[in-house]
Amino acid sequence: MAWVVVVPEWLPLPEIDDLPDPGSRGVTLELSNGTVEVILLQKGGCLFAYRNRCPHTGVNLEWQPDRFLDFTDRYIQCATHGALFRIEDGYCLRGPCAGQHLNSIPLRMESGRVFVMI
Ligand code: FES
Repeated sequence: MAWVVVVPEWLPLPEIDDLPDPGSRGVTLELSNGTVEVILLQKGGCLFAYRNRCPHTGVNLEWQPDRFLDFTDRYIQCATHGALFRIEDGYCLRGPCAGQHLNSIPLRMESGRVFVMI
């Protein structure tokens, strides 16, 4: 049996100076073996990142480009069936995937740039 070792790496995100608080942005990262869609969120001065993939069916979550939050800007809301997720930890509070989580992505700031671990 052959083993494939995948080494995670820190990838820079585009500039986020204009990201509202609270607010969200969708980012598509190009990898050597395809693309990864990421949600970047800001709330209370803190940043959070998740894979853009609903745990219910695997579809993207946004209503419109960069629009992931519900009308109160308190929760991430899936556009397909309306599941609500906490911004802080991606936990699904209500909807067909209640009790599940969005896939969290580690992030860090360096010299004013945001990097995510993919
Ligand atoms: S696809 Fe997201 S709640 Fe059904």
